[in-house]
Amino acid sequence: MQEQREAHAAILDRLNRRLRTMCQCTGTFFQAESEQELLQSICEILVASGEVRLAWIGYCEDDAEKTVRPVAQAGSGLDYLERVKTSWGEMEPGQGPAGTAARTGKACWVDDIRTDPRFSPWRVAALACGYASCVAVPLIAYSKQRGVVDLRGTLNLYSAECNAFDESAVEHYTGLATSVAYFVTALRGDLAEDLAYGVTALRARAERKRAEEALHQAREELAHVTRVTTLGELAASIAHEINQPLAAIIADANACLHWLEADRPDLESVREALAAIVKDGDRAAEVITRIRGLLARASVAHGPCDLTGVIGEVLPLVRPELGRHDMIVKMSLAPDLPLVRGDRIQLQQVLLNLLVNAVDASREVPPERRRLIVHSTVEYRDDGPWAVVRVEDGGVGFREPEAARLFEAFYTTKPGGLGMGLSISRSIIEGHGGRLWATANADHGATFHFALPAMR
Ligand SMILES: Nc1ncnc2c1ncn2[C@@H]1O[C@H](COP(=O)(O)OP(=O)(O)OP(=O)(O)O)[C@@H](O)[C@H]1O
Ligand SMILES: [Mg+2]
Repeated sequence: MQEQREAHAAILDRLNRRLRTMCQCTGTFFQAESEQELLQSICEILVASGEVRLAWIGYCEDDAEKTVRPVAQAGSGLDYLERVKTSWGEMEPGQGPAGTAARTGKACWVDDIRTDPRFSPWRVAALACGYASCVAVPLIAYSKQRGVVDLRGTLNLYSAECNAFDESAVEHYTGLATSVAYFVTALRGDLAEDLAYGVTALRARAERKRAEEALHQAREELAHVTRVTTLGELAASIAHEINQPLAAIIADANACLHWLEADRPDLESVREALAAIVKDGDRAAEVITRIRGLLARASVAHGPCDLTGVIGEVLPLVRPELGRHDMIVKMSLAPDLPLVRGDRIQLQQVLLNLLVNAVDASREVPPERRRLIVHSTVEYRDDGPWAVVRVEDGGVGFREPEAARLFEAFYTTKPGGLGMGLSISRSIIEGHGGRLWATANADHGATFHFALPAMR
C-alpha cells in the first residue's frame, strides 16, 4: 500500500511539473515578440523544470552536409553543441535522434546513450556533459486552416538519467513541439512583411557567422602560404645566413686543433675560439628557430612585442639578398619605442614583405639609389603613443594615384609576383588595430609606413 501510494505521488508530482511547464510555455507563446525569443524561452523553461539537463532547437539547412543548426539552447554543457555536428542527411551524422526526427517527422529517442549504437558519433561528448538519455521531436503541427505546418526543425532534450523519456514524456514533448510549430508559424505570418525577423534572419545569422569563420581561416591559411613562399624566395639568403656561422665554427675548430697540437698549447686562444664557436652555434640555431616560427601554420596569441626586436630578427634573413644587389641598409631606430600587443610572427612577416618589395623595387636603379632606410619612431596621438616603422627605398617608386591599388589583392607589376604581399600585410596590421600605408618619396622611391598603438 505504502509503495503504491509513493508511486502515485511520484506520478502526480511529475504531471504537476509538466502542467506547470505547459502553462509557462503557453505564456511565452502569447508574449514572445520574435521567433528567436520564443524558441529561446521554451528551451529555458524546459531546463528550469528540472526534467532535462540540456534543451536545444535546431533548424534544417539545405547545405551540402544537411546540417541541423542550433538556433536556441539552454542548460548545462552548451559547448556540447559547438563540439558535435548534427545532420538530417542519410549518412551517419544523420542517424541520431535529431536527424531521424527531422527526416521522418516522428519523435526519436535514445534510452541509454552509453550503449545505443545509433548514438556512437556523439557518445563521448555527451557522456562528458553528463547526458544519459535523449529525445528529439519534430517541429510539426497540423491545423485545419493551414494544413501541415512543418518548421523543418527539432526540439532536442537531454536528461542525466537513463530511460528518462518514456511514452508519456515523448507524448508530452511532442505536444509541446506541435504548439511551438504552430505559434512560430503564427508569429511568422504576423511578421510576414518584416522578413528581418523569422527563420530567414536566423538562418542568415548562422550563415554569416559561418562565413566569417571560414574567411578568418582562409586568411590565416593564405598568410601562412605566402610566408612559406617568401621564405622559399629567400632560401639562398637564409642558407647563407646559416652557412656563415657554420663556416666560422669550422675555421675556429680547426684553429683549436692546430693550437692543441703544439707542445705548449695556447689555451687562452683555444678558450677564445671555443667561446666564438658557442656564439656562432647560437646564431645559427636562432636563425633556424626563427624560420621554423615563420613556417609554422598556427598564429600565436597576441602578446607584448618590441618592434626593435622584430626588426633585428628579420633583417638577417634578407641581409645577404640586400648584399647581392649592392644595397646599403641604414637604421634609424627610436630608443624608446613602446611595446605593442601583437603576434610576433605576423609582424615579422609584414616587415619581411616590405623589405623584399624594397629590394625588388631597387634592382634596376643606378647604384647610388640602392639604399634602404628602416626608421622607427614614437608618435603621440589623441589616444596615446603609437609605434611607427618606416621602410624607405630609392627604387622605382610609384605614382601617387596608384597608391591605393598597391594594397589590392593580386595587384602586381612583377613577372613572378603574386600581388598578395601588401594585401596580407595590411590585413595583419589592421588586425592589430593599426594602419599600413605608402607614400611616394619626393626624389626617388617609396616609403611604406605602419603604425601600431602602444600597449597599455
Ligand atoms: N617599395 C616599393 N616600391 C615600388 N613599388 C612597390 C613597392 N612595394 C610594392 N610595390 C608595388 O606594389 C605591388 C604589390 O606588392 P605586393 O607585395 O602586394 O605584391 P608583389 O610584391 O608584386 O608580389 P608578392 O605577392 O610576391 O609579394 C608590386 O608589384 C609593386 O608594383
Ligand atoms: Mg611583395
